[in-house]
Amino acid sequence: MKADLVVGLQWGDEGKGKIVDHLAQRADVVCRFGGGHNAGHTIVVDGKKYALHLVPSGILNKKAINIVGNGVVLSPKDFIKELEQFEDIKGRLYISDKAHLLLPYHAQIDKAKEKLKGDKAIGTTGKGIGPAYGDKITRVGHRVGELLNPKKLTNDIMEYFRIYKPIFEALQIELPNKDELLDELTSYKEALKDLITDTTLMVWEALDNSKNILIEGAQGTMLDIDHGTYPYVTSSTTISAGACSGLGISPKNIGKTIGIAKAYCTRVGNGPFPSEDLGEAGEYLRQKGHEFGTTTGRPRRCGWFDAVATRHAVRLNGVDEIALMKLDVLDGLDEIKVCVGYEFEGKKINYVPYTLENVKPIYKSFKGWSKSKGIREFEKLPLEAKDYILALEELSGAKIGIISTSPDREDTIIR
Ligand code: IMP
Repeated sequence: MKADLVVGLQWGDEGKGKIVDHLAQRADVVCRFGGGHNAGHTIVVDGKKYALHLVPSGILNKKAINIVGNGVVLSPKDFIKELEQFEDIKGRLYISDKAHLLLPYHAQIDKAKEKLKGDKAIGTTGKGIGPAYGDKITRVGHRVGELLNPKKLTNDIMEYFRIYKPIFEALQIELPNKDELLDELTSYKEALKDLITDTTLMVWEALDNSKNILIEGAQGTMLDIDHGTYPYVTSSTTISAGACSGLGISPKNIGKTIGIAKAYCTRVGNGPFPSEDLGEAGEYLRQKGHEFGTTTGRPRRCGWFDAVATRHAVRLNGVDEIALMKLDVLDGLDEIKVCVGYEFEGKKINYVPYTLENVKPIYKSFKGWSKSKGIREFEKLPLEAKDYILALEELSGAKIGIISTSPDREDTIIR
């Protein structure tokens, strides 16, 4: 059996949580393949709220095994804190010994560098994601498996501190001494040692035994390190290809790919966003859609559905089906716009060029509708909403198979 995959098609925060949470209820294995605790969503079960950042959504399904893959950068401190919400995780949660460690100095570097960049700052979450991936790629990082020998790891990190001392000094970062570091790493080992294993072998075994595997993407396609709005991106491969390297599986192991997109568009942090609306409509979407970050609380920038970027994302990820989220947030608008092309260097184009800076959106207008909230059948949607969805489907190049009409798990149209 192949593994099904859920990925974000925009700039993250597409509402993946609702779909992943639903699919995780019937999965045997749920895997995260990239990113770190920059991601986040909230799940409510039996009136209790759970905030998930690194732990896969299958943790709320008592029968599922959850895997944090090798492509993730893991902050043991934040992961251990996140685990406090769950009573019994024994035998249900594993971390790849090849995942990279994100340690407090990575967050310090992230914040210090952002500050130095001034108005060129990326607007990162400040969690240390870029510096942790940077260390991985420049081959000076440390992996989760090394936590099992804290003394050796302490010596290796002290050596790293010694080599990079001038950089830490220039950034005014105070580093822990050897004893403090050893204590910290030993405490991580004690808390996590039973979870650290070769998760690639586990996923292979699950595939061989025809288990129902769900792979949960983090962030969104437009934040992908290669294909997003570089340099205003995150530092990982967020598209479906990242699931292969981030778990250790082949493209042949991927089954259905569901792409998640909101019925409008948002982004947090800096960088180009061609269909951003800085006027009343943007504010309407922010308030009505509660568009404030779950990880950092920052207000999200809001705008119209970008069909050009979505088509790009559909192709990059090999999307079989789109889940269109938060349709009801558009209820009550007289006019709804969709970005159907860009003006780039004096020309009209319908693809995503290497940069979206200075790109102007070309819009098509749609008539609004008054109420889609809570509707559970496609046929019962207002005519204008149906026209809008069919147009997005045509423009994006993939079937819109799922439509969400409220945060409630049941208010979902399956076409
Ligand atoms: P970093 O991942 O913290 O380095 O941040 C880089 C960019 O990605 C910033 O614009 C962040 O706001 C954005 N970003 C990172 N994670 C998420 C996410 O889960 N949702 C939305 N944006 C994100």
